[in-house]
Amino acid sequence: MFKLIDGKMVSAAVKDRVKEEVARLKEKGIEGALAVIIVGNDPASKVYVGNKKKACEYVGIRSVEYALDENTTQQELLALVEKLNQDNSINGILCQLPLPKHLDDKEVIEKISAQKDVDCFHAENVGKMWIGEYSFKPCTPAGVMELLKAYDIDVEGKNCVILGRSNIVGKPMAALLLEKNATVTVCHSRTKNLKEICLNADIIVAAVGRAKFVTADMVKDGAVVIDVGINRNEEGKLCGDVDFEAVKENASYITPVPGGCGPMTIAMLMQNTLTSIKNMNKEV
Ligand code: GUN
Repeated sequence: MFKLIDGKMVSAAVKDRVKEEVARLKEKGIEGALAVIIVGNDPASKVYVGNKKKACEYVGIRSVEYALDENTTQQELLALVEKLNQDNSINGILCQLPLPKHLDDKEVIEKISAQKDVDCFHAENVGKMWIGEYSFKPCTPAGVMELLKAYDIDVEGKNCVILGRSNIVGKPMAALLLEKNATVTVCHSRTKNLKEICLNADIIVAAVGRAKFVTADMVKDGAVVIDVGINRNEEGKLCGDVDFEAVKENASYITPVPGGCGPMTIAMLMQNTLTSIKNMNKEV
């Protein structure tokens, strides 16, 4: 019998912890703010940004939204980031990705002050994460680690297979699992013998962005299956990368979509923003 990993419950606990800390800081006169930049009209991005604002309201962190026109230029966007870098009342800066095609997301990410980079996308923070000397952890992989911890799933010495090598999920996921002494394999579109590699996995983290990519014949009995994917199926319903109904029969633990990793990403963003507020105010 599999156990369902409840991301809503674990994320609520993380947010409650952050909320308590935020209240404690407010009593000392310390207040923080997260700036969220969204460019254009991508409907999914609008939903994510709305959820981030709601989470800020819940934990008591002020959020400031900058909704920029689809035709915003790179110079205008960089100037806004610079203004927010200089603003001492802003502790976190997040630019929702993807940006419209004419904009260079790498340049924008590098422009954000590393100190305020609550997404943990800046090269300086990525480097610090790989050597284990970080303040921020990338939100989605950090959320996966928090889920594993909440369910007492020890990764030490385990074969962990990550599907996908994106800068946002696959690569930083490898860093965080390695830090906890897992044996990590990162698979991607050119990987040979994918099925055999997956069948050897104690823990599978799927982040490829394709519905039903992970099928039951790729998952050994008792494996832990973490589904980071957010896709729409033929009926337009939200689904992950895992063929949930079939794979759950093999799994010991499995995350649903929605209600698994998604809420965790936002909870970890709140955690990073709190970290930044503390860092900027020299609080522990
Ligand atoms: N787009 C998809 N996921 C993310 C995320 O975690 N942060 C930002 N800024 N954009 C995203």
